[in-house]
Amino acid sequence: MDFEPVEKKRPVIIENIIPPEKKRVLSGMRPTGRLHIGHWVGALINWVKMQKEYDVYHMVADWHAMTSQYENTRNIRENSREMVIDWISCGLDPEQCTIFVQSQIKEHAELALLLGMFTPVPWLERTPSYKEAVIEGKNQSLETLGFLGYPVLQAADIVLYKASFVPVGEDQVPHLEMCRELVRRVNFLYGSLFIEPQPILSQTPRLPGMDGRKMSKSYDNCIYLSDPPAAVQKKVSMMITDPARVKRTDVGHPEVCSVCAYQTVFNPDEAEAMHEGCRTATLGCVDCKRRLAEKINELLEPMRKKRAELEQKPRIIDSILKDGNKKARAFAEKTMAEVRAALNLP
Ligand code: TRP
Ligand code: SF4
Repeated sequence: MDFEPVEKKRPVIIENIIPPEKKRVLSGMRPTGRLHIGHWVGALINWVKMQKEYDVYHMVADWHAMTSQYENTRNIRENSREMVIDWISCGLDPEQCTIFVQSQIKEHAELALLLGMFTPVPWLERTPSYKEAVIEGKNQSLETLGFLGYPVLQAADIVLYKASFVPVGEDQVPHLEMCRELVRRVNFLYGSLFIEPQPILSQTPRLPGMDGRKMSKSYDNCIYLSDPPAAVQKKVSMMITDPARVKRTDVGHPEVCSVCAYQTVFNPDEAEAMHEGCRTATLGCVDCKRRLAEKINELLEPMRKKRAELEQKPRIIDSILKDGNKKARAFAEKTMAEVRAALNLP
């Protein structure tokens, strides 16, 4: 009988297995007020998942908020704080990720200024957000250097932390593309200074608001993460449904109803059966909505608990931001020292 040659077993020495360094992710959000379930579905759910696998930096983009809100900054501090409370209530764990405030790390401004040296103005004028607002929208209040330079500041945010990935929505892809162009330009001239970041796009399609339009604070059609259960119920009950279902016995077309889209997202296990019930008129809109409201409330309940806890101890947020800012600042200072050296600046 032949024996297969037994492969020599090499002892595994735990100490020799160096864990590969986690790739860095930089994400940012403007503090414009309380967050809604559209933010959860479009961004936060991914942020929470990412924190184990990546070294994630979450930035409160307060300077970016100012690019369009410069006339009134009264709420900027409070909005930033509320947003961080929302983030943590959703499951961002400050032990696992770094949460910081853009305006507290002055290196963002220095790097944005330097990147501006490399940025042709026509690139900025062609940016869809600028074109839509200023050139097509004729919004004169946005004809500012700050708003024009929005993508340059955003590029600085990203490359300062040598982030490999940036989770963004579709609308931010052109900004990311400009960031990549800038990185290539600088790296070509001064050696491999920066990392070219890649966007991570959210898989879920945008959730419509209660009225079927885009979910937005300005349309007053959002379910906020901080809404109490009764408010969620009320808002869901007011959602626009398939107009063909005038009577309970009329069959429906779930594909044209926002409630149906919501079921898919918030009630995935039962969604198919609910859609079938709608098509065959065995399920009424009232019951369909009641179930949806229950599922949304189930999702929000742990967030409410966490928020209540944080609101009891407001110091916690201060200390999370203090630690996050400190860590981000140390990183940013190190990058800027490299940048200045490469650019022959003192
Ligand atoms: N522009 C982003 C938005 O409106 C916010 C933002 C600012 C950002 N700096 C960033 C996002 C850096 C990702 C990376 O959503
Ligand atoms: Fe919309 Fe549900 Fe009514 Fe169908 S049953 S129309 S999916 S609310």
